[in-house]
Amino acid sequence: MQFDVFTLFPAVFIPYLEASILQRARAGGLLDVHLHDIRTWTTDKHHVTDDAPFGGGGGMVMKPDPVFAAVEDVLGAPPACPLILMTPQGRTFTQKVAEELAVLPRIGLLCGHYEGIDERIRQHLVTDEISIGDYVLTGGELPALILMDAISRLIPGVLGDPDGAMDDSFAMGLLEYPQYTRPAEFRGWGVPEVLLSGNHARIARWRREQALLRTLLRRPDLLENASLSDADRKYLKKVQSEVDPGASQGP
Ligand code: ADE
Repeated sequence: MQFDVFTLFPAVFIPYLEASILQRARAGGLLDVHLHDIRTWTTDKHHVTDDAPFGGGGGMVMKPDPVFAAVEDVLGAPPACPLILMTPQGRTFTQKVAEELAVLPRIGLLCGHYEGIDERIRQHLVTDEISIGDYVLTGGELPALILMDAISRLIPGVLGDPDGAMDDSFAMGLLEYPQYTRPAEFRGWGVPEVLLSGNHARIARWRREQALLRTLLRRPDLLENASLSDADRKYLKKVQSEVDPGASQGP
């Protein structure tokens, strides 16, 4: 998978890309990140990348010319792959969107900055717009890193454990079950007995029920779209009546 990132601040990406799993993925040839400094494609003496908005008002707007030149130079015209603008106005990034993008061989990411970008970039260059949540950051660099991180770990071979991404919160439509590791007793706090039992069927059922319980308590909205077995529904009904005994009795 190759990412081509168009940004005014390429340096902010480097420490994260050079650490841990993403570094290993890059070293192993599973991930290739090319950082392109938009400023390189300015043609004026002062390398200006932003200007005041037509119509007045505060703030600065990213100019279209260096952005078009950078993208067309690197990705071709028309671009050889999708070009995603990171913006709070985009569709919300979710695990499902990460899965959708993880199958692509190459993705361009455009990081907005200042108060906005010239609308012609949005209309005539960008093919998709993604937001990482309903809050506004100073630029698209952190959102681009988040997107690359979430997508990269879905590429086969990037995680040490091939099933690692499958048990994740959200991947199975539920929040993840609680995890424990050694020591079996820490400051007097133990580990659920079932996890030490060696009984894999019991462990699998316990984990499933814990995932269901956690999702019910913290993110009940996720249960609407999760794929649930009859046993899951029965368990949820039982715990729901324990949490709120009046719930199933009507007014
Ligand atoms: N740029 C600024 N805020 C953003 C957000 N929430 N998502 C994506 N890009 C952004």
